[in-house]
Amino acid sequence: MSGLVDSTGGYIDRAIFTDQQLYQQELQRVLAPSWLFLAHADQFHKPGDFFTTYMGEDPVIVTLDKNRELRAYLNSCRHRGARVCRADMGQTRNFTCTYHGWSYDLEGKLVSVPNRAGYPGSFTVADWGLVEVPHIETYRGLIFATWNPEPVRLREALGGMAWYMDAMLDHDDQGTEVVGGVHKWVLEGNWKLAAEQFATDWYHVNVSHASALMVMTPSGKKPKDEIVHRTGRQYVDPMGHGAGFPVHPNNRFDARTVHDHVDYKALRERLGEARVQGPLTNGHATVFPNFSYLPVNGSIRVWHPKGPDKMEVWAWTIVDKSWPDEVKEAQRLYNLRTFGPSGIFEQDDGENWSEVQAISRGFITNGVPLNYQMGLGSERDDGSHPGTTSELYSDAAGRSFYRRWQTMMSTPAWHESPPPDTGNEDPA
Ligand code: FES
Ligand code: FE
Repeated sequence: MSGLVDSTGGYIDRAIFTDQQLYQQELQRVLAPSWLFLAHADQFHKPGDFFTTYMGEDPVIVTLDKNRELRAYLNSCRHRGARVCRADMGQTRNFTCTYHGWSYDLEGKLVSVPNRAGYPGSFTVADWGLVEVPHIETYRGLIFATWNPEPVRLREALGGMAWYMDAMLDHDDQGTEVVGGVHKWVLEGNWKLAAEQFATDWYHVNVSHASALMVMTPSGKKPKDEIVHRTGRQYVDPMGHGAGFPVHPNNRFDARTVHDHVDYKALRERLGEARVQGPLTNGHATVFPNFSYLPVNGSIRVWHPKGPDKMEVWAWTIVDKSWPDEVKEAQRLYNLRTFGPSGIFEQDDGENWSEVQAISRGFITNGVPLNYQMGLGSERDDGSHPGTTSELYSDAAGRSFYRRWQTMMSTPAWHESPPPDTGNEDPA
């Protein structure tokens, strides 16, 4: 691992985006033990409301049980392994496998087995319930879960990142909700290319998104200097999270209807000047490992890994619950136009990741390291924002992202620990 990521010198080996064995290890040591984003709490209101998603490559069902407790189960039948829920979302009383008909209740218990009499007396339904994800927690409406049997609490894992997340999630006491459904699309590209970019990369904006910025500029010609020559900060979290945001005294929501509605004075009182001038709307962010968001358009997304060279993007639009319907709709449309699957910005990013991925397969190319040196040594606590920050244009959060990745890749996960020594040695 030490040769693959040099976060001090700022080099990355391209094998981390292409190697199948590293990918398998990543599923085991990085994704399975981490808090992974599942869904928004607004998707669950009544017992039996469910949503199916993935944790790494493991399919899971998220649901509300009879007591309205959020639960998550491995979406795989205990009989021969088919998915027990093949719908994307919905409402149900049971999850019934379409292969041979085993059926599970909202608490994951096996409740119906066709030809039950054909099984031996030793067969006990209590032994064959769905495998439950051991820990599920929410932070301001965002639901995360982990397979780690003894994780740090979600709030602790978010650490200093929560202050930045609150700039999007905590505009008032009512919080956020989802508008529209979930957009899902497939990209050729390793999931880390996207997660890393959202953690650290404002650098690409003026080049990759130049044409989109021109479209967004009222003159229709060239982006104003104040857009191109931005200054700001980048938050560098030791646990691999990251966020970048220009700082501007007149920071505003881009969607006109949203801007006209928002009470910036109230936001200043609640969130403070530093957050309103920065991460309230500006910028990009990643919660390690694979959840990212864009405050300006309420886009939240997860980068599902699908092999070393492919990802599936799942993206939601969230809005303030307190906004009137027409403001919510304006934000939904603005997000669709900019960062929906065919959004004018989103397409630029996907094109870059696919480009990097496609050529990294070349034998010679794969051996040529990548540069992550921008802002080396710039990380500091300058008092402007909580925690360690760097310049707006910097790879600092990217280096921290990969440092965390490397640490987890080098650390055996809980399932790799030897079984506890019981003192009963098998004489054989
Ligand atoms: Fe589910 Fe057989 S695989 S009932
Ligand atoms: Fe971009």
